[in-house]
Amino acid sequence: MKTLIKKTYEDLSKEAAKIIKEAIQEKPNLVLGLATGSTPIGTYKELIRMHREENLDFSQVISFNLDEYLGLSADHHQSYNYFMYKNLFDYININHKNIHIPDGMTENVEEFLKEYEKKIREAGGIDLQLLGIGSDGHIGFNEPGTPLNSRTQIVKLTESTIKDNSRFFEKEEDVPRFAITMGVQTIFEAKKTLLLASSGNKAEAIVKFIEGPITSQITASILQKHPDTIVILDEVAASRLKRRY
Ligand code: F6R
Repeated sequence: MKTLIKKTYEDLSKEAAKIIKEAIQEKPNLVLGLATGSTPIGTYKELIRMHREENLDFSQVISFNLDEYLGLSADHHQSYNYFMYKNLFDYININHKNIHIPDGMTENVEEFLKEYEKKIREAGGIDLQLLGIGSDGHIGFNEPGTPLNSRTQIVKLTESTIKDNSRFFEKEEDVPRFAITMGVQTIFEAKKTLLLASSGNKAEAIVKFIEGPITSQITASILQKHPDTIVILDEVAASRLKRRY
């Protein structure tokens, strides 16, 4: 695991976008795993700039998103589907047929979960998976206690995640209690993972994830074993690390 510490969120976002850009240039039909939330917004802005100013071409890129709230339709303003279009897809030349985001309104959940895994397999597996981390150490929506060998599944969100994510909703009660997420093992199977974290409320999760034991209590900790993981932090998120790399 390689850890890069950047001075600011902007520097972190630029570095992450540069890594994604190089991966697309190397493999134009890159299978790119994407995340939502506040953290990747700067990276997406920079990718949009690269598309506009540097002709970064997404036309063959295949995307798979990590997760979606159960019960929110794609046009719901707090859904992760909506987020992805408003923060990235509407501004780049990705082929909409190549976009995969879990369907929060699926009627046959079990079938959907299997199908999502199958589509990832059929695409040849994820080449590069972008990740954020929850303040409870989750990746995707794999909350503490989720088995490390889990695959795409339904999860119940913890109180801490509901609280963290309530900032996007009018009130805390509106945050869905369940979500569909790629499993920990599904994420681990990506050929390369790129985890970003900024700001102080991540510092505790970061120190546990990087310097603590590998445990289902901090699902991100599985990445300690991953053969090709880059973690990019800003100074504040890295502030509790004992070892600086
Ligand atoms: C989002 C996701 C989550 C977030 C994490 C951090 O698709 O899978 O794991 O990456 O909750 O969220 P932010 O970036 O909002 O702090």
